[in-house]
Amino acid sequence: MRILILGGDGYLGWPTVMHFAARRHEVLAVDNYLRRTIAQQTRSEALMANPNLNTRAELFAAASGHDIQVEIGDCADFRFLEDIVARFSPEAIIHYAEQPSAPYSMMGFAEAQRTLNNNLNATFNVIWAVLTRAPQCHIVKLGTMGEYGTPNIDIEEGWIQIEHKGRKDKFLYPRQAGSLYHTTKVLDTDLLWFYVRTYGIRVTDLMQGPVYGLSTEGADLDDRLLPNFHYDDIFGTLVNRFLVQAVAGIPLTVYGKGGQVRGYLNLKDTLQCVTLAVEKPAASGELRILNQFTELFSVNQLAERVQHVGSQMGFDAQVRAIENPRKEKEEHYYNPVHQGLLELGLQPHYMTDEVLAKMLAQVARYKDRIDSAKIMPRVRWAVPAKAASASGAKD
Ligand SMILES: NC(=O)c1ccc[n+]([C@@H]2O[C@H](COP(=O)([O-])OP(=O)(O)OC[C@H]3O[C@@H](n4cnc5c(N)ncnc54)[C@H](O)[C@@H]3O)[C@@H](O)[C@H]2O)c1
Repeated sequence: MRILILGGDGYLGWPTVMHFAARRHEVLAVDNYLRRTIAQQTRSEALMANPNLNTRAELFAAASGHDIQVEIGDCADFRFLEDIVARFSPEAIIHYAEQPSAPYSMMGFAEAQRTLNNNLNATFNVIWAVLTRAPQCHIVKLGTMGEYGTPNIDIEEGWIQIEHKGRKDKFLYPRQAGSLYHTTKVLDTDLLWFYVRTYGIRVTDLMQGPVYGLSTEGADLDDRLLPNFHYDDIFGTLVNRFLVQAVAGIPLTVYGKGGQVRGYLNLKDTLQCVTLAVEKPAASGELRILNQFTELFSVNQLAERVQHVGSQMGFDAQVRAIENPRKEKEEHYYNPVHQGLLELGLQPHYMTDEVLAKMLAQVARYKDRIDSAKIMPRVRWAVPAKAASASGAKD
């Protein structure tokens, strides 16, 4: 198949690009390096150096024999994206090209505006490029489990039947996100649903939990093919921060009570899930929503897991609760359904002690590059004194 991967330089995008190329699909990767730009502006650079997309494509071709096409450009620019879709004529588009940091989206006006404009324009342009240039193309969009928030009822897979005053109907499951970034994903889903039910495009919206891991078949070929690994408070996920803290001998920082539960998955399972979605596409006029995670952990459970495996490897990892910079429930009910991808054939890779040990060993090889000043929270869920934040980021 011809597969267009938007955000192909990113943490998920780059391994996805290698994965589909290795499966002998024709792959075109697009990125505008927004992630690298913001990381530099906020002093949140990745732990390992990642060569640029063109260089990585060349390294991968040399190591594997599989070609990857690359275009550098902005998906929020409709003419650019429309032209790519017209020329490449994709059968599937995997859309990762968004600003994915919740803390960044909460820094101030400029960062919030950039997140809103970038994410909604990119999704809107993908929809219109498909409508006008490739109407049969299947859009596989990365959403997030964070769209649902933490409601005090079971979370269904995208949809809910509601009975009201004796009548019934099916609706998108209610969503109440906890950051502006997550809210842009809610708005994306609404846009996609509007165009699916009105113009009959085909869409899979993957409600993904936080992803962890560095190892994939492609990345294991050469350290220069590793996905980006951020451990700071802006781009670093909880698991990455804990791994780096354990290796650096800094206490693992739990935000508040640590009872926040989320659904996690291994990077290898993200690759499986998008492959299943692409190779078993949604029908025309269908918005297929799948909850994409394999295991639930609370923040405290993850801290204990990393501490336990770390101590077996000789790392002195302490755990320390700090004031929560976010507005979120620190203890709550959480019971999301996640049957759809298992029914499509997903075979989960769980977070075993071996998996944690392998990640800790990988981080330890780069221990001298850890900058401990990047780890503590710099962003609070509060209106900054001035609308423009101190980061100097501009749109
Ligand atoms: N990583 C996770 O744990 C996770 C969890 C749930 C959902 N997601 C979603 O998956 C997607 C990918 O996440 P990621 O962790 O790989 O993030 P990432 O920032 O590493 O990757 C996104 C890539 O998209 C690019 N990009 C952003 N806007 C662009 C634009 N307008 N034009 C071209 N390229 C653009 C960035 O430069 C970056 O390389 C995001 O949509 C994110 O919301 C990620």
